[in-house]
Amino acid sequence: MKRKPDNYSTGFQKQRYNAAFGELLRRERLAKNLSLSMLAKTLGVTKGYLSRLEHGGAKPSRILIEKIACALEVDPDPIFVLAGYVTPEVEEILYRHPVKAPILLREAFNDYGDAQQTETQLEIKPKLTSAAHVSKPSELVKKGLYQLVQGNCFSWADEKPPNYIHAIVTDPPYGLKEYTAKEKAKLRSGRGGVWRIPPTFDGCKRSPLPRFTVLTDADRESLRKFFYEWGVKMIRILVPGGHLFIATNPLLSHLVYLSLSSAGFEKRGEIIRLVQTLRGGDRPKNAHKEFENVTVMPRSCWEPWGLFRKPCEGRVQDNLRKWKTGGLRRLSRNQPFSDVIKSAPTRAAERAIAPHPSLKPQVFMRQIVRSALPLGEGIILDPFMGAGSTIAAACAVGYQSIGIELDPEFYQIAVRTVPKLATLAINGEYQWQPSSQQTLFNS
Ligand SMILES: C[S@@+](CC[C@H](N)C(=O)[O-])C[C@H]1O[C@@H](n2cnc3c(N)ncnc32)[C@H](O)[C@@H]1O
Repeated sequence: MKRKPDNYSTGFQKQRYNAAFGELLRRERLAKNLSLSMLAKTLGVTKGYLSRLEHGGAKPSRILIEKIACALEVDPDPIFVLAGYVTPEVEEILYRHPVKAPILLREAFNDYGDAQQTETQLEIKPKLTSAAHVSKPSELVKKGLYQLVQGNCFSWADEKPPNYIHAIVTDPPYGLKEYTAKEKAKLRSGRGGVWRIPPTFDGCKRSPLPRFTVLTDADRESLRKFFYEWGVKMIRILVPGGHLFIATNPLLSHLVYLSLSSAGFEKRGEIIRLVQTLRGGDRPKNAHKEFENVTVMPRSCWEPWGLFRKPCEGRVQDNLRKWKTGGLRRLSRNQPFSDVIKSAPTRAAERAIAPHPSLKPQVFMRQIVRSALPLGEGIILDPFMGAGSTIAAACAVGYQSIGIELDPEFYQIAVRTVPKLATLAINGEYQWQPSSQQTLFNS
């Protein structure tokens, strides 16, 4: 039997939510030995209004629910549900699944109205977490939030004092070979090497991808050494409790992680960027017909980002007070930052703005960059900035940042494109032409 599409929000349902919420509120208030007037005063509402809430005669706002949870020292989530709201966590999930959300909601409320939308009818507009914001171009110009440096991050770090930056978010040349002059020349001439052009099976020209499986034992050893030496330099200039987010891949992450641990970093976890790349999933070379049911490597559907921290000075709370670091920034008061982030590959619009073969998408970068400064204060460093997606993300969420890039061509791309990426709205509607490079530190 079909029900009315808005059945779950009928007057009857509303009353039921209000009554259940009211009962809970009264129970918790009495359990805390608070009179109506005492709690009303704490919440900044009248005694009469609080009484109406307790008797199911009104629906509290979200803000009031947060205040109530705080005053009564209870978890706000069940209160949100009782009051007829989805919890911030559920809201976040629905934001991240814009196509499935209406279907899930209809299923949850057992409502299959006539106007069912199919996936193809829905427009997907990925949305940033509610707490992040996109700077307007004028703000960016005024603030001059970032500095771009062309040079080697190893020697750059040597010139800096200890405890100079507050977080590092970076995507290094983890195959090492791919950014040597020889391999970059092959990449730019479009002729193979460690870079390969994926098949153009649908007529679209794709960006080249580095082929990590061609690394030898000696390459692996130099990779281990590279990340150890790099880790030693980075940990010196990072403040105690400062976090490092480092992009890697499932074939090499163990080597990178061991080297960073040896350099003194604490491993704090791993962020899983759920993204389908074109790597893996293929049959044995030159024998794919003979072994048509064999996959040589799994089709990669995720990208690991190692999460490390320079040890704190004392307790996290002391470190937060002294250095403004030690933890990660929550999505909101009720939502911790979590370690699985669904992410599409970098959009064509962003790749057109910043043509770097390893460009990371803004929608993902803004989430991790934002989380890297727990109090929203300090400087983010990307020592391998490429076209500057980290720096653009830092600008977008209002953080100061420094980007270092060795290659002059990539550096010039970053100079041109950071302001454009930074002010790009996540749904791609916003366009802005910057007039010049803005710097915070040396202008
Ligand atoms: C994987 S890419 C980063 C791409 C970046 N995530 C983006 O979205 O554009 C790594 C970059 O590090 C640069 N690089 C390599 N060695 C470097 C070094 N020692 N110092 C600074 N940059 C370096 C490479 O030229 C390359 O552009």
